[in-house]
Amino acid sequence: MDQIAYVNGSFVPLSEAKVSILDRGFLFADGIYEVSAVLDGKLIDNASHLARLERSVGEISLALPETIQRIQEIQKELIARNKLVNGMVYLEVTRGADKGRDFAFPKGVKPTLVMFTSEKDIVNAASAKTGIGVITVPDIRWARRDIKSVALLAQVLAKQAAAEAGAGEAWMIEDGLVTEGGSSSAFILTQDDVIVTRPNSNSILPGCTRKAVKMLAEERQLKVEERPFSIAEALAAKEAFITSASVFVQAVVSIDGKKVGSGTPGPMANRLREIYVDFARSTSV
Ligand code: PDD
Repeated sequence: MDQIAYVNGSFVPLSEAKVSILDRGFLFADGIYEVSAVLDGKLIDNASHLARLERSVGEISLALPETIQRIQEIQKELIARNKLVNGMVYLEVTRGADKGRDFAFPKGVKPTLVMFTSEKDIVNAASAKTGIGVITVPDIRWARRDIKSVALLAQVLAKQAAAEAGAGEAWMIEDGLVTEGGSSSAFILTQDDVIVTRPNSNSILPGCTRKAVKMLAEERQLKVEERPFSIAEALAAKEAFITSASVFVQAVVSIDGKKVGSGTPGPMANRLREIYVDFARSTSV
């Protein structure tokens, strides 16, 4: 059966889900997206994702075409129509399609809102047990990475380089320090058991999973320090891991082919993963 997508007020088969070639998301990457995980048919940490959506659209002066409450209803209806058990809901809002290609904002044009789902058994993913390798690449992105913009070409190139190297993610480097993963937040666990992750700023996306993991770790009296770290420090660390809606907490076992810690997922990454999955299940909607 064809999957169902949502396009501007209608639920349609994915193969028929289309927007104009004049859509500003297509022409200018003038749009914002969100990815929310789904476990057992329910949305994970969705209030956090929708709050970030509101912030992102505000930062580019784009008005949402639907209320946040209605957007969540549409997400849920899409999950139900697709009978999605485990996976993700992708949503994208763009500044819509005008009659031509003017850079400045068009007047009287309704924003485009699309959504589709994808299946993924995030909890039982094979990589959760084996860990992943990461490669490092220069961070060549724009200066407002806190906005979840659909302009992802730098990440496409970074993650393609990772795929070609047989790695699961690319860590982006700026001024000798890790900013974040191509589609994830980056963490290390130091030899004296401090969880280190870069503080939120314009240099990184404020990860929803990052925020929840930090809160959950602090609740358990684990030490969390927000500061940038280098690859040398990561290679000298006990553990490394990434977080995102599409992997939750995922151990990193090598960087550029060099082992991190034991070269297998460490106890802290495994523990935080379990804690996060419990949190996810108990707060899903
Ligand atoms: N990416 N940093 C970047 C650059 C990201 O693209 C993402 C998420 C994250 C983690 O954010 P969160 O925990 O809120 O998912 C950090 C999504 C999953 C994607 O592009 O598919």
